[in-house]
Amino acid sequence: MIKILALETSCDETAVAVVDSHKRILAHVIRSQIEEHQLYGGVVPELASRAHLDFLPSLVTEALKQARLGYGDVSAIAATTGPGLMGGLLVGATFAKAVAFARNLPFLGINHLEGHALTVRLTHDVPFPYLLLLTSGGHCQILEVRGVGDYKELGTTLDDAAGEAFDKVAKMLGLGFPGGPAVEKMALKGQPNIPLPRPLMEQNNYNFSFSGLKTAVLQYQQKHAPLSPQTVADLCASFQAAVRDCFVNRLTKAIQALPLCQHVVVAGGVAANVYLRDALQELCTQQGRIFVAPPLALCTDNAAMIGWAAMERFRLGYQDPLTLRPRPRWPLKELTSCNTGF
Ligand code: KG4
Ligand code: ZN
Repeated sequence: MIKILALETSCDETAVAVVDSHKRILAHVIRSQIEEHQLYGGVVPELASRAHLDFLPSLVTEALKQARLGYGDVSAIAATTGPGLMGGLLVGATFAKAVAFARNLPFLGINHLEGHALTVRLTHDVPFPYLLLLTSGGHCQILEVRGVGDYKELGTTLDDAAGEAFDKVAKMLGLGFPGGPAVEKMALKGQPNIPLPRPLMEQNNYNFSFSGLKTAVLQYQQKHAPLSPQTVADLCASFQAAVRDCFVNRLTKAIQALPLCQHVVVAGGVAANVYLRDALQELCTQQGRIFVAPPLALCTDNAAMIGWAAMERFRLGYQDPLTLRPRPRWPLKELTSCNTGF
């Protein structure tokens, strides 16, 4: 039985988990930094790295206690080594390397996006290849997941990520941070009756663009200010409906282009949006594909996904040297070349 202790510190959640090779999550702790960043309306990198430094040691102790394990009982230690904010990546990676060195444990540096991409194989039995919509605060991509470390990008956002657009719309409407859940909640009280653009839908590719949609929300808000609470709700519902249409349109194309992918997966923070999940479920039913989404708590950043990606790699014989450097930018398509040779 393999047991992996995993750390996630790439953005604004400090998270630690222990997963085993039987797909059990033995420990799962997260300290969100929402309070630290709320005042600024977004993540402040320097504050984030200091908070990771403060929280990480006690969270690791708590996770080991939850799993009833000591360092001597784990098979390997993993940390997110990119993409993300460099300060946070350094805190997590350095902690993991120090433990690996002191305890003579294998170390794995995990790509955060691969963590999101493989989460469904922890929670469900999803075989390769599968089609993935990876949608978070920093990324919005359609990928064919062919194997561990083997990702073919079909399309990506040309500007903002969908989660970023949710966050910015929430900020301009005064709904607070983080924006995604706030917009989703507000949209429940509104009607999608405000016309907004659906960028790139007529184009014959798999790309996204959310910057124009975000600007259209801003222009509507400025033109009709001050907005009544009902109009704010309608604007949220209309924005969410536009994102849904873009997702459905692009994914329909990808589904038709990849007949071998029986499973269609959504992952990343935006995958926690129940309205969007329902729309994707409906699309897959229509197209005769199996839709899979991780449970809500494993959509947003967490360490179980890092532990699972490490598990997939470790059991294939991979591990990383303690000289591995974190990478703030680390696209999935570069993954194999970064991890071969072990
Ligand atoms: O994956 P994640 O936790 O962190 C990154 O790797 O970026 O994703 C965070 C993003 C944020 O932009 C957040 O607003 C968005 O996911 N998000 C949501 C929801 N929950 C989180 N977006 C829409 N609806 C939600 N319920
Ligand atoms: Zn993420």
